[in-house]
Amino acid sequence: MSDTFDKGSFKQQIGTQWLGHKLQYFKSLESTNTYAKEISAADITHGMVCLADHQTQGRGQYEREWETLPAQNLTFSLILTPPTAARLHLLTMACAYAVVQSINEQLANNKTCLKWPNDVLYQHKKMAGLLTETVFLGNRLDRLIVGIGLNVNQQKFSPELSNKATSIRNEKGKAVNRELLLGDLLKRIEYNYQLWEQADEMLCKNINQRIIGYGQWVKLKVDNRLWDGRYKMLGINEAGALLMLDEDQQVKTFSHEQVRVVTD
Ligand code: BTN
Repeated sequence: MSDTFDKGSFKQQIGTQWLGHKLQYFKSLESTNTYAKEISAADITHGMVCLADHQTQGRGQYEREWETLPAQNLTFSLILTPPTAARLHLLTMACAYAVVQSINEQLANNKTCLKWPNDVLYQHKKMAGLLTETVFLGNRLDRLIVGIGLNVNQQKFSPELSNKATSIRNEKGKAVNRELLLGDLLKRIEYNYQLWEQADEMLCKNINQRIIGYGQWVKLKVDNRLWDGRYKMLGINEAGALLMLDEDQQVKTFSHEQVRVVTD
């Protein structure tokens, strides 16, 4: 299945109040995140979505590339202008959690999880990833860009990725309508955004229940170096920082992507 994204049919069924009402569609673009970062401040609105069927220089976390086959997946960026620049990592996780919810709905099971900081895994295989970036004007947050790459209908992955990545279609055994899926996902993101805005404690609780390693003793990699000892993962706090208990019963707080959790 490689039909281009049908903006008209997406618009017909959109059930959000504000998210995705402005959708910019590109057949091919360098990167939706790069575009969303560079577009002028006068041209953005809160909740605008930039979606491309093909990215020529899609970017992932840790300066990696994000390469997917054209017109099979969802590769898009949300532009958000939240009232505060505080707790932004929690907001990214709220979006990642919405991706988990949407996939679980598709696959009718609860096998999709979050891996700190921003990966979405289905039974140890990556199904989606998020890349968040910010634009500041002076010390004022101008926009938050949440880039989401979700493997939807892609069936074949490169040899390096074939054991590590999967798509909804591969797990469901059936192609998925991308326009409906995006509509469902945006509704969930909008709902979680509201929980974030209201600092609702349910948001952290829900996210923690879905994070791999929660409540377990795990190893940590910091700046790509494996740390000695083991740490008990206490989950994320209301700022989206990761809390870990060390073997001396001290709580350590990590707020950067430099920290990775090693569970096996
Ligand atoms: C990761 O490494 O897991 C994050 C991947 C993020 C990919 C998405 S696709 C849409 C948006 N545009 C980009 O260039 N990257 C993000």
